[in-house]
Amino acid sequence: MSKVEKKIEQMRAEIAKHDILYYKQARPQIDDQAYDRLKLELARLESLHPELAINDSPSLTVGDDRLESFDSYTHRKPMLSLDNTYSKDNLLDFGKRLGKRFLGMQLNYLVEPKIDGVAVSITYEKGRYTRAVSRGNGSAGDDITQNVQHINGIPKQLKDAPEFVEVRGEIYMRHDEFERINTVRKKENQPLYANPRNLAAGTIKLLDPNEASERSLDIVLYGIGACEPANFFSHQDAIQEQIRIWGFAVLEKYWIADSIEESWNYIEQLNSLRHQFAYPTDGAVVKLNDLILQEQAGFTSKAPRWAIAYKFEAERVETKLIEISLQIGRTGVVTPVAILEPIQLAGTTVARATLHNEDEIRRKDIRPGDTVLVQKAGEIIPQVLGVNLDKRPKNSQPYNFSSHLNDLGIEAVRDPNGSAWRIISREDPICQQRALQHFASRACMDIENLGTAVVEQLVSCGLAKDPADLYTLRLEALLNLDKFADKSAQNLLDAIENSKTRALWQLLHGLGIPHVGKQSAKDLEANFESLDALEKASQPKLESINGIGTILAESIHNWFSQTAHKDMIERLRGHGLNFKAAANSTKNNTSSLSGKLIVLTGSLPNMTRDEASNTIEKAGGRVSSSVSKKTDYVLYGEASGSKYIKAQQLGINLISEEQFLDIIRGH
Ligand code: IVH
Repeated sequence: MSKVEKKIEQMRAEIAKHDILYYKQARPQIDDQAYDRLKLELARLESLHPELAINDSPSLTVGDDRLESFDSYTHRKPMLSLDNTYSKDNLLDFGKRLGKRFLGMQLNYLVEPKIDGVAVSITYEKGRYTRAVSRGNGSAGDDITQNVQHINGIPKQLKDAPEFVEVRGEIYMRHDEFERINTVRKKENQPLYANPRNLAAGTIKLLDPNEASERSLDIVLYGIGACEPANFFSHQDAIQEQIRIWGFAVLEKYWIADSIEESWNYIEQLNSLRHQFAYPTDGAVVKLNDLILQEQAGFTSKAPRWAIAYKFEAERVETKLIEISLQIGRTGVVTPVAILEPIQLAGTTVARATLHNEDEIRRKDIRPGDTVLVQKAGEIIPQVLGVNLDKRPKNSQPYNFSSHLNDLGIEAVRDPNGSAWRIISREDPICQQRALQHFASRACMDIENLGTAVVEQLVSCGLAKDPADLYTLRLEALLNLDKFADKSAQNLLDAIENSKTRALWQLLHGLGIPHVGKQSAKDLEANFESLDALEKASQPKLESINGIGTILAESIHNWFSQTAHKDMIERLRGHGLNFKAAANSTKNNTSSLSGKLIVLTGSLPNMTRDEASNTIEKAGGRVSSSVSKKTDYVLYGEASGSKYIKAQQLGINLISEEQFLDIIRGH
């Protein structure tokens, strides 16, 4: 294999990896600009070596967001990508090309914000809303109708509509909602989400529609796909107007330019306005306004020739790194954070930036006192790109992670298989505090009155080292603590006492087993009748549970095999905590739908989807959004489509609302 062949193969594999991380898993490791650069370089190499070109090279495709658990739907008109550029010259060249193509014609362009969200296509047949589908691989996407049902801005019925139309746009998460979710996660000592786009992409593909409904998403529509009759619209701006009249959520602003040069002025205006918009924007899309000319300009394999995306450079700024602070998460992982001299960047004041781990600091040789270049790309949490060595103080020394841990009195070891440092000593007071705070948090045992200051004192006075110690606290001991009055001490004891009856999943979540979050704790409760049964479960048994993968199974098994944890469980038992799964979520109880997996499709005569989902869960069942061999029932209503057919093919019980209610009533 030649050198260039190897390089091309390597780049294809690299891009394919980033495509999966971005589209399927919603957790990109590199920012858009770095990704775009990779793709551009691959396309350049391929055009220099046409003999090495292949049809399905990632330079020619649009990625694929489809997941196995969703039904697939083929778009009537493919959802293509856009050619993009970061250069004004390239934008002007795009105009010149069209100028040549349509010689002597006055061309108008529409300049629109480019929304950094998740592409969606919404179908209307005879004006009636039928389904919402993700972009998928451009030709076919996932049916996400269930998960968009709580999003405002999608009318159910269109007045004076064409026979058939696919309305296209982006689903996104508002900044304030993103902040709200991350604030809750911070309080619960859970890792923070990196940016609204990933969180929106993850939410739209959640299998549990109830969980999805706890996170608010928004939508904005800006275009159409297939349309019958095809000449229903004549211009791009008429589409914007019509979809606004139909009641869709639309772009806050767009501009009509008489030339490509004029469109540049609007792009600059957009850049100064865009941080005020509700949605995250990462550029402008410039489109030929006339749809007949669009048609004539045509497409390449992945993008139209009548439009281009001008992407804004990620915003960067230099500032001073005051210190590297070490933060400790609930499982004892130590994460370095750059504390910065506050500076304005991309519309917000930035005072902190993530440094990821020890290796990242070493690779970039980042030192306290350095002047660093900070970037905020596509709304991502600010990152330190590198150091301005010209401004490095003379006496500066490389940052030594482990001696810094020592200075702070933190006992930690480096993960032999990774780059994280983790506190190991159960005697470490910070670790103990974190564990207690997590245990008491709302998403776990919900113990009110156990704030940070109290936990700190309990640990420093040796009154509580682990959650089981909370149940041994006495009034007299609490009264000796700083600022503890009679009443608040008694309130705390009452709250601790009340927590003994919490659901098993809350206790499981509170134990701080690495990787066990709220949903996996619920999955465990649904599959074991008690904590004792879970404690005894083998790793293969754990792995066989829906929602529990290998890493989780291993982590749970390890956790329960440690003597200190066994001892704590026994003490918790001694204090009378609830170890039993709720009656209706165990397999062997008599509740009508216990342990059953149910899929909803179509609209039911008397119940909304939410009501049906709640009823199922109350009866011990679980709602899933896709039909598989594991599905027990498909509850169908009017206009059920592919799920109904799939259930028939797989021989799964199809039940009507009436039959469903009979089962619930125990008939
Ligand atoms: S028009 C034929 N307009 O960006 C493709 N796309 O990077 C027409 N996007 O696939 C797309 N804002 O998902 C268009 N104002 C806008 C957009 C927009 C965001 C997305 C869209 C597209 C992707 C390309």
